[in-house]
Amino acid sequence: MNTFWQKPLLFVVLASPFIWLVTEVLSGNLIDPIEEITNPTGQWALRFLLLSLLITPLNKILPFSIVKFRRMIGVFSFFYACMHLGIFLIDQQFSLTFILEDVTKRPYIAIGFSAFLLLFLLAITSTNKMIRRLGRRWKQLHKFIYLIAILVILHFYWQVKSMADIEPLIYTIITLFLLSFRVEWKKWLKR
Ligand code: HEM
Repeated sequence: MNTFWQKPLLFVVLASPFIWLVTEVLSGNLIDPIEEITNPTGQWALRFLLLSLLITPLNKILPFSIVKFRRMIGVFSFFYACMHLGIFLIDQQFSLTFILEDVTKRPYIAIGFSAFLLLFLLAITSTNKMIRRLGRRWKQLHKFIYLIAILVILHFYWQVKSMADIEPLIYTIITLFLLSFRVEWKKWLKR
């Protein structure tokens, strides 16, 4: 079966939140552009991060392989995280003083930064050349993705306005479910 269309289609799907945001900005529909871009870019970064993690368990149950899509999903997660950070930096007028003040005043910002730095590390080590060069260490390094998911969920919880907000809870459940798949329980229990 010809599958050349799958990756371009996935690209369009993953880029659609960005296209939608750009059209919203251009049409002048946003009342508070900083907040209305910060929140969705953060959400899409997290959603695509979790989707990239879902690939492994899904691949085990599906009759065909979907592993080839994982990298593109991860790269898009990083892309939305970059936009998220970019808007924050614009809001802070790229002033180191303002940024440091914000980091000390709002700890969830420091958590977001830690998650971003780790995500950056994973993004730059995801080229074919780096995967080859790192060998087995690449797999070890990329386990950080679970820590990133936990940090981002913490970052999310810390600033939700109402505990009735169900969204971070859904992401927590998905992350715990994914983690339960990855932990080598048998080895762990033997220790
Ligand atoms: C790079 C450092 C980061 C900074 C400075 C930062 C900053 C922010 C800010 C200012 C908000 C909005 C808070 C509010 O509305 O009061 C936010 C929300 C959020 N951020 Fe980040 N963030 C960072 C990293 C990340 C990363 C790496 C992710 C995901 C991979 C992420 C996901 C989210 C999510 C899901 C929200 C909640 C959106 C909502 O309330 O609907 N953030 N972040």
